[in-house]
Amino acid sequence: MTVPFVDLAALVRPSKAEYLAAFERVLDSGGFIGGPAITEFEAAFARHCGAAHAIAVGTGTDALVLALRALGVGPGDEVITAANSFFATAEAISHAGATPVLADVDEQTLLIDPADVARRVTRRTRCIIPVHLFGQIADMAALRELAAANRLHLLEDSAQAHGATRTAGSGELWRAGSIAEIAAFSFYPTKNLGALGEGGAITTRDSELAERIKRLRDHGQAGRHDHVDIGYNARLDALQCACLSISLAKLDAGNAARARLAAHYRAQLADQPGVRLVAEPNGSSPVYHLMVVRVEAARRDAIRDALGKAGIATAVHYPRPIHLQRAYAHLGQGPGSCPVAERAANEMISLPMYPDLTLVQVDQVVSALRAALA
Ligand SMILES: Cc1ncc(COP(=O)(O)O)c(C=O)c1O
Repeated sequence: MTVPFVDLAALVRPSKAEYLAAFERVLDSGGFIGGPAITEFEAAFARHCGAAHAIAVGTGTDALVLALRALGVGPGDEVITAANSFFATAEAISHAGATPVLADVDEQTLLIDPADVARRVTRRTRCIIPVHLFGQIADMAALRELAAANRLHLLEDSAQAHGATRTAGSGELWRAGSIAEIAAFSFYPTKNLGALGEGGAITTRDSELAERIKRLRDHGQAGRHDHVDIGYNARLDALQCACLSISLAKLDAGNAARARLAAHYRAQLADQPGVRLVAEPNGSSPVYHLMVVRVEAARRDAIRDALGKAGIATAVHYPRPIHLQRAYAHLGQGPGSCPVAERAANEMISLPMYPDLTLVQVDQVVSALRAALA
């Protein structure tokens, strides 16, 4: 039996009748852009995140760009983010006209390292974008402190962390999307909350920021033909929002299934020689967008090949840190500037992880991994 990395057709199949009914409602309404399907989804998503506002936009990348623009980040500014993230996190900083500064990640959690962020703060720094990578919330207590001390904006890249929580030192439960002043989400189909196409959202507690983002996503219009900003067409359409509302109702169950599967993986791999797990700090409840393990760098590709031959599909998130991408050669952050991220890039393997994966399939992945390591 093969284990795919993800099977989107299988994932949406149980909701097919609901999606088709939603399509019919939207088709019959004739309202394809704007309308109640969008505002209803935005209200439900804001509630789920514990945020005052959610604004649906075209993609997660749009969400990051619009959030930065709404914060007033632009040319001449520096924005610090994680070297180990999807390229879009840095790309959005560039699209806003600012300069990305890539910070290293923590050796145990692979999340942005607040101490390294602190070392990279300059007089030009305006914002920090922690990435809640693989579904686990970054060290927001340290980052909030750092941002406050340096008067910096804090924007959560929550693209991989819908529903993730982490307990603050005060005992307060923090939820992705409502820990900082603003957050960006992606609804790319493989995400924990995925659209049937592209999608994204911004959450914020700040009503003024929310109004600015609503304008920016709609050509900077304050009213019809009254353009007060140079904005974008970054609206999310009614069909996607109608389907996202259906999927949102199932997000908690999907996350719980991922947590069960992750616990099973972790229990079996905890004492496995040659495998390192990503640490889960006390109080952290990741939503396991990805199940990442680390192996010896020299053997990583051979282990992936052996898993592939055993029918187990794997991936690497991400094989090259952002500062070593050719597009960012001009930043001058060459090899050695983020050593942890650089080392981890050669050690990581993403194993299959999705809500309809079975415990039996996890056993199959684990035994294939053990055989590959032997
Ligand atoms: C961490 C992170 N940031 C940003 C993005 C960009 O989202 P999108 O693909 O929806 O533009 C993604 C996902 O693709 C992501 O994983």
